[in-house]
Amino acid sequence: MIVEATGLRKSYGAVEVLRGIDLAVKEGSVLALLGPNGAGKTTIVRILTTLTRPDAGVVTIAGYDVVREPTKVRGVISLTGQYAAVDDNQTGRENLVMVGKLMHLGRAAANRRADELLERFDLTAAMNRRAKTYSGGMMRRLDLAMSLVARPRVIFLDEPTTGLDPSSRLTMWDAIGELVRDGTTILLTTQYLEEADRLADRIVLLDDGRITASGTADALKSQVGGERIELYFADDLTARNAFELLGGHTDSQLLNLPSDGSAGHLLHVLDELRDKALTPARVSSHRPTLDDVFLTLTASPPSKTTSPQTSSREGASREGASRESASPENASPENAASESASSQTAVPTA
Ligand SMILES: Nc1ncnc2c1ncn2[C@@H]1O[C@H](COP(=O)(O)OP(=O)(O)O)[C@@H](O)[C@H]1O
Ligand SMILES: [Mg+2]
Repeated sequence: MIVEATGLRKSYGAVEVLRGIDLAVKEGSVLALLGPNGAGKTTIVRILTTLTRPDAGVVTIAGYDVVREPTKVRGVISLTGQYAAVDDNQTGRENLVMVGKLMHLGRAAANRRADELLERFDLTAAMNRRAKTYSGGMMRRLDLAMSLVARPRVIFLDEPTTGLDPSSRLTMWDAIGELVRDGTTILLTTQYLEEADRLADRIVLLDDGRITASGTADALKSQVGGERIELYFADDLTARNAFELLGGHTDSQLLNLPSDGSAGHLLHVLDELRDKALTPARVSSHRPTLDDVFLTLTASPPSKTTSPQTSSREGASREGASRESASPENASPENAASESASSQTAVPTA
């Protein structure tokens, strides 16, 4: 394991921000730390990159201890995101060459490396423009390119696509994919389920300073069970009555039930409902998604405010989120999972 953390704890004053975190990242793999705002993602990244000392716990990167051997750790890692090392009065190319010189690469090698990285991150056409004229996505790519001049073995990306428009996000995903093909180990943080699903070999769900689940995207999905059946009722009361009868998770007009995916089970569910005159208006079934995982295993839902492809259901899920957090007795994973209904199915809200 090129990254190993055990028993990490950190408090700021009376606030416990990390409550015992264990992580292990295999060389050449991608780990996503997935969690909502305030979960503790940046604090973990700062500890792993030697910028913050943990109150307790041990971290080694490539065998070096982050507290006792910070200089050695810094020699094998790079950190990008949430701050830019870019000098925006210089051109993209000048920025890259400057980093190469700081790394004592020598002029020729620094130039060569700069051109290689410009090409790779699709910045060649803009390389002679001052960085201040770059778009957000180009800036992010330049920042990433600068962190790669030194060929780090482990790259930390703290919310690499937060705030980017959907097309810049796709370009950034491609850029990260390139690094993965190189065999670079990556630890990234994200609030986006689809980002973790797309980029990561393993996902660690983080909520309120604790790991609530971890594994491959597929393993996490199977933790939530096989299929989900979603029943959409004409009104909240009928949905509530159906929930009393069948269990599962309910949220306004929706009832979300675990299922084995068989037609027999679905028929059985519909028969039971018909016997009680609780016939649903609509039925659908789907394999569990990462949304189901997150909402089943984590008390608070991930932020989706700028996530692509979710805008149509954002309103519903965020409203659900504030309802959940408003009442402490609702804070169990069971109840939080009821939100998956509203975030999963594109149902008419009329
Ligand atoms: N330097 C600090 N001083 C006080 N509180 C902090 C500090 N850094 C982070 N926190 C708090 O720790 C919690 C986790 O923050 P952070 O690690 O930035 O979460 P995330 O990156 O997942 O959004 C938040 O409640 C935040 O307010
Ligand atoms: Mg953060």
